[in-house]
Amino acid sequence: MFQQKFALQSEVREAPLELCVVIPTLNEAGNVEALLEKLGIALAGIEWEAIFVDDGSTDGTPELLTKIAQADRRVRMIRRIGRRGLSSAVVEGALASTTPVIAVIDADMQHDERILPDLYRAVADGDELAIGTRYSGIGSTGDWDESRLKISRFATALASPIMKTRLSDPMSGFFAVRRDVLLEAAPRLSNVGYKILLDVVASIHRPLKTAEIGYTFGTRQHGESKLDEMVALEYVELLLDKTVGRFVPVKLVQFGAVGMLGVGVHLLLLDIALNALGLAFSWSQASAVIGAMTFNFALNNRFTYRDRQLKGLAWVGGLFSFYLVCSLGAVANVGIGSLVYDQFHGWWIAGIAGAIVGSVWNYVASGWLTWTR
Ligand code: GDD
Ligand code: MN
Repeated sequence: MFQQKFALQSEVREAPLELCVVIPTLNEAGNVEALLEKLGIALAGIEWEAIFVDDGSTDGTPELLTKIAQADRRVRMIRRIGRRGLSSAVVEGALASTTPVIAVIDADMQHDERILPDLYRAVADGDELAIGTRYSGIGSTGDWDESRLKISRFATALASPIMKTRLSDPMSGFFAVRRDVLLEAAPRLSNVGYKILLDVVASIHRPLKTAEIGYTFGTRQHGESKLDEMVALEYVELLLDKTVGRFVPVKLVQFGAVGMLGVGVHLLLLDIALNALGLAFSWSQASAVIGAMTFNFALNNRFTYRDRQLKGLAWVGGLFSFYLVCSLGAVANVGIGSLVYDQFHGWWIAGIAGAIVGSVWNYVASGWLTWTR
């Protein structure tokens, strides 16, 4: 029975699939049809399929893809609701594939699909990874201005210590990879931000056998780029996760950094209240504490916990729960500080011990009470 069914299915598709092209989309309705047409031309002679991964586009992209996929068996789609993130979208698409080679390409046609067969061929013929590069061979960044070039170069330089494989363009989102290599990387992927290729390469702790093929980064014709000011931050998060992430949670590092800024804000407010406004010390200190807590809350809400960001009324509720958490943190801080002081009589050791315990408490408790999932 089973064999009969299986035989029936294999009659439908004679040649096995060779390549899966994963395409992340966020509001790309103006691009997907043209892209598929170009893929069809470029990949003639290869048995390929496309998996689109859409993150709640509101411009009709998923509806359009549904229609296309009903008519064309080579096209599939994963719809993610209430989620965001280029890297994690690509990973989920790739994990849904079963082909020996997986390629990743943007939907907006800025990546030149004409080199896809070369990328595919390189991997099919024995390389583990083949990337489209703007920085080697005939590759170029197209119409980028000097400052974007500098930023890209700087980011590339930052990435080299965390990679065991030398790549001229680790920031590229255009590559083909052997399926088992991707699976090897999968358990260690950081899954933050945009830099999926860098994430994959940095998750494999040995040099990979690679090929590089140059292409010119094109200009977007329809829709707009989703790169915003958060991209830099997400990049830092990826680098942190790949370096210290094994030992401490990245969010704790960010929380700590915000806390340090908070100390600066505290001192500034204290100075203003005390010296400029002439308030009594206790009042000045109290306003500085409230000001610094508010600052820490707002910054953590905007950056550290932007994946669970509180808005409107929830923002106000979150602020008060954060005050509560920090008050208990202060009690713990003083308590532990006093305990250590009684034991060792070193004032600064006691101060630091209290501050660390208080901060870790604030981090753990606010993650639980203020920024609940
Ligand atoms: N599913 C999903 N979710 N797709 C997304 C998301 C997301 O959160 N954000 C962006 N995309 C899709 C876009 O629809 C597009 O197909 C592709 O990812 C790239 O997004 P763009 O907004 O066009 O990015 P870019 O052109 O600025 O950056 C690209 O080029 C860079 C090269 O400098 C990306 O490929 C970068 O990874 C690459 O570094
Ligand atoms: Mn783009």
